[in-house]
Amino acid sequence: MKKRLEQLRKDALAAFEKATDPASIQKLETQFLGRKAELAKLSKEMKALASAERPLVGKLINDIKKDISDIIQKKKSVSKSGTQSSVAFDHTLPGITPVVGHVHPIIQFLEKIEDIFTTMGYEVVEGPELETQEYNFDLLNVPEDHPSRDIQDTFYVDKNDKRGRPLVLRTHTSPVQIRAMKTRKPPVRLLVPGRVFRNERTDAGHESTFYQCEALVIDRGIRVTDLIGTLELFLKRLYGEDVKIRVRPHFYPFTEPSMDVDMSCLLCGGSGCVFCKQSGWIETLGAGMVHPHVLVNMKVDPKKYSGFAFGLGIDRLMMLYYGVDDIRLSYSGDLRFIEQF
Ligand code: PHE
Repeated sequence: MKKRLEQLRKDALAAFEKATDPASIQKLETQFLGRKAELAKLSKEMKALASAERPLVGKLINDIKKDISDIIQKKKSVSKSGTQSSVAFDHTLPGITPVVGHVHPIIQFLEKIEDIFTTMGYEVVEGPELETQEYNFDLLNVPEDHPSRDIQDTFYVDKNDKRGRPLVLRTHTSPVQIRAMKTRKPPVRLLVPGRVFRNERTDAGHESTFYQCEALVIDRGIRVTDLIGTLELFLKRLYGEDVKIRVRPHFYPFTEPSMDVDMSCLLCGGSGCVFCKQSGWIETLGAGMVHPHVLVNMKVDPKKYSGFAFGLGIDRLMMLYYGVDDIRLSYSGDLRFIEQF
């Protein structure tokens, strides 16, 4: 009997060793441990043995059962995990949290700005980053010899437009004013967020790629006071009621009159600090009343309609909002910076 049992153990282990899929493991389990299995039969025959032999055979049968159970356990865990490990998967261990990304701080901030303007009835529109000189300059009344066209400020691309002039990486969001008006008629209130490019040396305050947000409003009887009122309301909604604005005359070819708008420094409250170069003011945006030539280029009659436009530098405003002191951090791709927002 002992011989038969030993043979059985050998056969069983060899059969299990070959089995790989759960179905055949299951089949072998019934074959070797089931009620009608050889082992069950031998257990019954044990009763007929001499009483001295019985415990030894009993122990052998139990050992064989244990060996078979062990190999079944091992096989099952392997076929589940696909590895040779005999350690079963422990579902009570803490898992590995997947890394979930989020919106970049610049875009988060841009969305705050969009919220403020859309509640005032503005429509958000976008335009191409690769522009023709016609849209980036000509139709905006920028003369042929204007310094901003200079190779030092503008990135010219190695590809020509239909007229044979090199395309440019847009230097501002203003060309979208003209593009948007191809399919619209006044009254309009537009907000144009987007990336712009300038051939600039990079430092803590300047990047060659940055974000702007343009606004264009055209209607009957729009005046400079509408522009200043809108800007004041916008900056107060963004930074709080204490913000003051200051308007300085400036020149932009596409607006007349033109102005630069500063806001009181948020860090020192206007008394002067390093951030505002002791002036108490921070340069915030360029603005003005849409030049009649530009209105004509938009197929809008300057005798009937007037409008204002302004362009905000998003990066600087974002830095002020969150207290970031180096513009280069925004584009560095450094997760230690990005994950703080
Ligand atoms: N396009 C100007 C710039 O990039 C900003 C501006 C926009 C000024 C609209 C006036 C009106 O500097």
